[in-house]
Amino acid sequence: MKIIAGNWKMHGTRESARALVQGVLPALRPEAEVIFCPPFPLLAEVGTILKGAHLGAQDCHFEREGAHTGDVSPVLLREFGCRYVIVGHSERRAGHSESSELVRQKAEAAVSTGLIPIVCVGESRQQREAGQAEAVVAEQVQESAPKGEFILAYEPIWAIGTGLTPTLADIAAMHRHIKALADVPVLYGGSVKASNAKEILHLPGVDGVLVGGASLNKEEFCKIIESTKG
Ligand code: PGA
Repeated sequence: MKIIAGNWKMHGTRESARALVQGVLPALRPEAEVIFCPPFPLLAEVGTILKGAHLGAQDCHFEREGAHTGDVSPVLLREFGCRYVIVGHSERRAGHSESSELVRQKAEAAVSTGLIPIVCVGESRQQREAGQAEAVVAEQVQESAPKGEFILAYEPIWAIGTGLTPTLADIAAMHRHIKALADVPVLYGGSVKASNAKEILHLPGVDGVLVGGASLNKEEFCKIIESTKG
């Protein structure tokens, strides 16, 4: 079983969300666990129509409730039907100065609420060129991973939204490296699309994909789900 998670980021409207989910549902297959991660206000809408797929959020706070303007409680996410929550995406690590320590706190809050966190890790272009990719990722895994059930997503920052991907050998090597540190499912993310999903999904150590841009396109996302076929 491969995990296919669509991270919509800050995209979508009620209308487009409904059309996208309804367009993707016929492509669901037993080999794929499909997760839709829409923006917070669309969780309820998507939650009512996603028969056979799962709902995930894109972030959560590390406390269950409190005076945290603009943040969202993992308890509420659970109540709205989420099974998964992405934490530590590089866009949050960079854009909201989130440290690995904070990411771990969020992941632990998610676990204690009954959510499965998808903890993102990944090196920058500069770090890869300096030969530091494995060390950077190892540190992020060690510092961000919660106790309990979780998933890791290896997302090299330079591959996100750029159309660039590491070589298949580099992806396989990094997944092997990560699995030696944490024996959990590891997804690959960064410019996954219909044309490269199959070869990535069939690499050893790749348990699924976290898809950004291509998850907003019905045909692309359906083809990615179909790529889980033998
Ligand atoms: P992308 O984004 O597929 O658009 O590269 C992946 C992600 O950020 O999760």
